[in-house]
Amino acid sequence: MTHVLEIITAPDHVLRTVATAVDHITEKHQALIDAMRKLMIEHGGIGLAATQVGIHERIIVIDVELVDVNDVEYTQHGSFDMINPVIISRQGSMLSSEGCLSVPGFTGDIERSSVIEVEFLDKFGEKRTITASGLLSACIQHEIDHLDGKLFVDRLSKIKKDMIMSKLKKTRRSLFLR
Ligand code: CO
Repeated sequence: MTHVLEIITAPDHVLRTVATAVDHITEKHQALIDAMRKLMIEHGGIGLAATQVGIHERIIVIDVELVDVNDVEYTQHGSFDMINPVIISRQGSMLSSEGCLSVPGFTGDIERSSVIEVEFLDKFGEKRTITASGLLSACIQHEIDHLDGKLFVDRLSKIKKDMIMSKLKKTRRSLFLR
């Protein structure tokens, strides 16, 4: 089975679906992960959730390069395929400047937990736990939000969110009218 995946953009209501946990990891999931990773790289993203390609299972892929070496105690970078990721502890807060492949052309500063401990299954079904900080931490929180039907704009002020969403609607209308 081949996946022809496309990134769904806001305000498509598909992005508001809450994803369900994966019971059994199959070859289909492994193929999906590979296809999602390829798509993410093609679009220059550092993270992608299955929700963004219209598949409502709790799967995210992440590829954060080393950008901040101040804090060596925690994992700050790396490439991860996460199935059923769950944040099991949080520490501190930080301001995170974020964008999203599903919200093209916009960024915003939002508050995130600074250090998180995440439990997940890798694509072979091995249970893993990592402690993430910095960009990796923000990225994982952003992608898990997608699995819960949330977008980073939901964490902005209402005025900023409304402005971005109305611009996205206009863009979409003009694309359809073309
Ligand atoms: Co996103």
